Amino acid sequence: MTTPLEDDSARLATLLADTCSYATQMLADVATRPVTGSVRAPASAPLPERGIGLTAALADFQARWARGFSASAGPRYLGFVTGGATPAALAGDWLTGTFDQNPTSGLDSSAPQLERETLSWLRTLFDLDDAHAGAFVTGATMSNMVGLAIAREWIGERRGVQVSEQGLAALGPVKVLSGAAHSSISKSLSMLGLGRQALTAVPLLPGREAVDVPALDAALDACAGEPVIVVANAGTVNTVDFDDLAAIAALRQRHPFWLHVDGAFGAFAALSPAHEHLVAGLDAADSICIDCHKWLNVPYDSAVQFTRRRDLQVRVFRNSAAYLGLPGAEPDFVHLTPENSRRLRALAAWFTLAAYGRSGHRDIVERNVAAAQAFGERIDHDPDFVLLAPVRMNVACFTLAERPTETRVQAVLRRLADSGEAFLTATTLHGTWAIRAAFSNWRTTGVDVPRIHAALRAALRED
Ligand SMILES: Cc1ncc(COP(=O)(O)O)c(C=O)c1O
Repeated sequence: MTTPLEDDSARLATLLADTCSYATQMLADVATRPVTGSVRAPASAPLPERGIGLTAALADFQARWARGFSASAGPRYLGFVTGGATPAALAGDWLTGTFDQNPTSGLDSSAPQLERETLSWLRTLFDLDDAHAGAFVTGATMSNMVGLAIAREWIGERRGVQVSEQGLAALGPVKVLSGAAHSSISKSLSMLGLGRQALTAVPLLPGREAVDVPALDAALDACAGEPVIVVANAGTVNTVDFDDLAAIAALRQRHPFWLHVDGAFGAFAALSPAHEHLVAGLDAADSICIDCHKWLNVPYDSAVQFTRRRDLQVRVFRNSAAYLGLPGAEPDFVHLTPENSRRLRALAAWFTLAAYGRSGHRDIVERNVAAAQAFGERIDHDPDFVLLAPVRMNVACFTLAERPTETRVQAVLRRLADSGEAFLTATTLHGTWAIRAAFSNWRTTGVDVPRIHAALRAALRED
């Protein structure tokens, strides 16, 4: 008797065609089926002893799990900052599994070179000079973590300590200054052993999420020449506010600090002539975080990390073994990020950049910004809501005009989600419970805007 694996192997072409036709069907109605799935898990099944083969597994997945999955790849999923997957990115993702390359080293394949080509395309897209070396990681949190790990090594260099060799105890406390840092910065500091308390919040401009540069200057003065880390924010998650990167970079003439920029999705301002001024100075950063599974619209998971100090990066992440070889002038990726073996995450990004180019991706950014602004205008003219910040780019941050308590805000969002029309998420801004609508999916168009607004009004009416 043959095994399910042998059977599947014999029918591979048919099985992949079946899976492809199911996937195509799923995507065909991603804009019309309910945006949220059921968060209740089906009754759990025991581990199959013999296995049921792919055809039956696909049927089981459809019956038990697929209906619970959200339409997060669709146009009215505006929670968190969720990108979609362009057709070419999706194809690239499929081929990632098909070729199943491990671009850790370049001993057997040109896959690492494809990753390098993709990184150089991204450098061009974001106007970074060649001194910025890049690497793919899983997401912005990991990109921030890698940037801060290199920063930690730099602090060591300034203090005559090699943290990568001697450990944190030899380094002593490190100060990290930031205006409105994303929560992943604290998480990274915890993972890096610097501790969440290393982060000092610097005052923001009045009513803004952008750092007050003179206040940052004063905070740096107070460090009295001790090297520190500054995390600048290019696109805050609530209101897409931007620190003045050029002004912050200029402070390095008087203070020693490592400048890390979290541009997870805000860096995409560089693609739009109307917004590129918001990221002027990005190139001056020592390390930069940019997410690809957000506004580049590649499937999860994908982000890049750029740094001007690859030498320090190699010191931190070096993984030398006889079978891997030593890091050379162009180090293998195994020496650059926390991962050892990894998927060829760059392939989806390569496909979407090759297929649609700079102008295709500029169109996505500009279309999303236009939709966010149109939505923001509706909210601003709606007496039941209050827009809490100007819509600078792709996020509208607003709240209920009456009693914007956590309970009411969450209840409205729950009803909206239950309606299946749209999915938005809650936040707090300057102490007020609020709602964010983040537009970052290539499928969203102006047609979705009135529909989202109407669904939100309906969710409010049921109050
Ligand atoms: C500014 C910023 N930084 C970091 C992150 C973390 O991203 P990820 O979930 O990809 O780790 C986010 C997520 O929304 C973000 O908006």
